[in-house]
Amino acid sequence: MKITIVGSGNVGSSCANIISQKNIAKEIILLDIKNGIAEGKGLDIQQASCLSLSDTKTLGVTNNYEMTANSNITIITSGLTRKPGMSRDDLIITNANIVKNVTKNIIQYSPNTIIIVVSNPLDIMTYCSFITSKFSSNCVMGMAGILDKARYCNLIANTLNCSHKDISSIIVGSHGDTMVPLPRYTTVSGIPINELLTEVQINNIIEQTKLGGGELVKLMGMSAWQAPAYSVAQMVESIIYDQKRIFPCSVLLQGEYGLEDICIGVPVKLGVKGVEEIIELKLNEHEYSLLYKSSISIRNIINNLNM
Ligand code: LAC
Repeated sequence: MKITIVGSGNVGSSCANIISQKNIAKEIILLDIKNGIAEGKGLDIQQASCLSLSDTKTLGVTNNYEMTANSNITIITSGLTRKPGMSRDDLIITNANIVKNVTKNIIQYSPNTIIIVVSNPLDIMTYCSFITSKFSSNCVMGMAGILDKARYCNLIANTLNCSHKDISSIIVGSHGDTMVPLPRYTTVSGIPINELLTEVQINNIIEQTKLGGGELVKLMGMSAWQAPAYSVAQMVESIIYDQKRIFPCSVLLQGEYGLEDICIGVPVKLGVKGVEEIIELKLNEHEYSLLYKSSISIRNIINNLNM
């Protein structure tokens, strides 16, 4: 298995490191446009593999897409983060152009790759990569739901003072303020969460989950990378080993959930073919209205982008 990671910032290089440590790929190519950065980070990870005893070979390259040829999986992490003076729309247009270019370059050398998008705003960038690639929709997906779910589970475990390992949950919708954690689909060792927490506690957890990414930006002045990279690694593992795990991922909907031509977070089965199934939850009216509202926030941006 050959994996390419585009962007060697915090998220990209952490993805490379975690995937290397897991020893699940033969080769990782870490690519960046900045001269020497990916080479250095790739070399550091490669040297670490001598200590972690991983057989994965990691190599960093500067803008050399030829080296990414025949990748089985490509992870796109490139893109700017918002800077003072920049509007949200500036960020969207800039990142959309970056993701489009990266996708074009990648598919030129790896026409059969599965693409995992991590760049923000996630659902828009996933759609952007999908449209640019002209790939079948099972081969392009965005990582977000696993990360949001981890934040949600962590908050539940802290509130209940229990192990996060026992928590099972699902989050749908966009990777943004309108994400939809689903308490009706959340259990702790099989026990429905509403038997363990009050409505007020559950609502607090939901609100904190939505602010999870922003809280980290506030604390560090930049977005998170450890949990995002672990989330990507879980998706990669499920694809490589055909584990058929069910994760919330941003994928193209074509009628599922009554939504059309939009990438948004829903539960999917991930196996060797990528997105092997989209699972349609039997949402109640309230849950559906939240998902629909979330889809509108994505739809408005997609329409403005003129893709
Ligand atoms: C976050 C970014 C990585 O939510 O999307 O932390």
